[in-house]
Amino acid sequence: MIHANQSLKKFHTFKINTYAKKIIIIKNIHTLIKTWNMCQKKHSFIFLGEGSNTLFSKYYNGIVAINKISGITISENDKNWLINAKGGVKWHDLVVHTLKLGIYGLENLAFIPGTVGAAPIQNIGAYGVEFKDVCEYVEIFSLINFNKIKIQAKHCMFKYRNSIFKKIYCYNHIILSVGIKLKKIWIPNTNHLLFQKSRNKHITALKIFNYIKKIRREKLPNLKKIGNAGSFFKNPIIKKKYIEKLFYKYKNIPYYPEKNNFVKLSAGWLIEKCKLKGYSVGGAQVYKKQALILINRHNSTARDILTLAEIIQKKVKEKFNIFLEKEINIIGKNNVL
Ligand code: EPU
Repeated sequence: MIHANQSLKKFHTFKINTYAKKIIIIKNIHTLIKTWNMCQKKHSFIFLGEGSNTLFSKYYNGIVAINKISGITISENDKNWLINAKGGVKWHDLVVHTLKLGIYGLENLAFIPGTVGAAPIQNIGAYGVEFKDVCEYVEIFSLINFNKIKIQAKHCMFKYRNSIFKKIYCYNHIILSVGIKLKKIWIPNTNHLLFQKSRNKHITALKIFNYIKKIRREKLPNLKKIGNAGSFFKNPIIKKKYIEKLFYKYKNIPYYPEKNNFVKLSAGWLIEKCKLKGYSVGGAQVYKKQALILINRHNSTARDILTLAEIIQKKVKEKFNIFLEKEINIIGKNNVL
């Protein structure tokens, strides 16, 4: 019997006080199957990591299962470290764990909130590295036949903030673990503009880690104190031809080359140019130091956040004729993702 109504405040990083019928902590496959079987009879079901990319738009009339299936194993061959991390491990803990063992390659992805199981879904990325660059395989669990399936990275359809796990394997499948391959001979990734000045200096993985810690502390809100979900929108990818037009008016517009004559623009820059930094709706606000982040400044409701997001989309569309697509998952429309 399920009758409790439980607050989701502690289970998603926006820290908004929405409710679910029931929240169940999943520590092993046995509990997962039991919960799933129970849901199939009469409840909606959603599987969540740390809820770092999620906004519950209203009461969730079903079961929220929190992935706490954890464990990290490491093996090796001549050239590589081979890591298997379970979906419920916190991504940043995995980064720290490997660095402490002298295994390098995840340092650019330090301090990203969320779990290992969420990393492949939107192909997390920061400072020149994406999950796809280190991924060997993703192991999923079918809730249809309770089989485990290993999908090699080349079949995961990884793209910028996108993967097969947002399309085909989103319903009735959960990510059980990921396989990561890191070279024993470490080559620093300093392609990102952030590292421009340090490129010719002696660089170590720990220096990269500490530098990213400093930058993130300066620019991003402290998740422990201010509810948010990281970047709220994706950086838009547009045709190169179009940016040439924008150059007439905006000489310093930041952009990054993409394949096939496309470029990626900075959504944060576009939002800032619309003078929306610090703009509020109810308890929601555009973060003053990084316009791509919407924060729960003070008792925000999901409606405040969504109204603010709509205003941003409208203003950016009016000024630049560019549509900003949401990066985060909104849960609530008929209780499906
Ligand atoms: N910018 C502004 N104003 C702003 C924000 C940014 O002008 O308010 C400009 C910056 O000056 C810079 C450019 O936009 O020239 C890029 O900004 P930043 O380096 O902060 O990165 P971002 O494009 O806003 C992306 C990822 C982040 C990731 C950083 C670092 C997306 C949607 N976001 O943000 O990922 O940490 O790069 O590599 O791709 C996330 O996905 O949640 C996330 C935090």
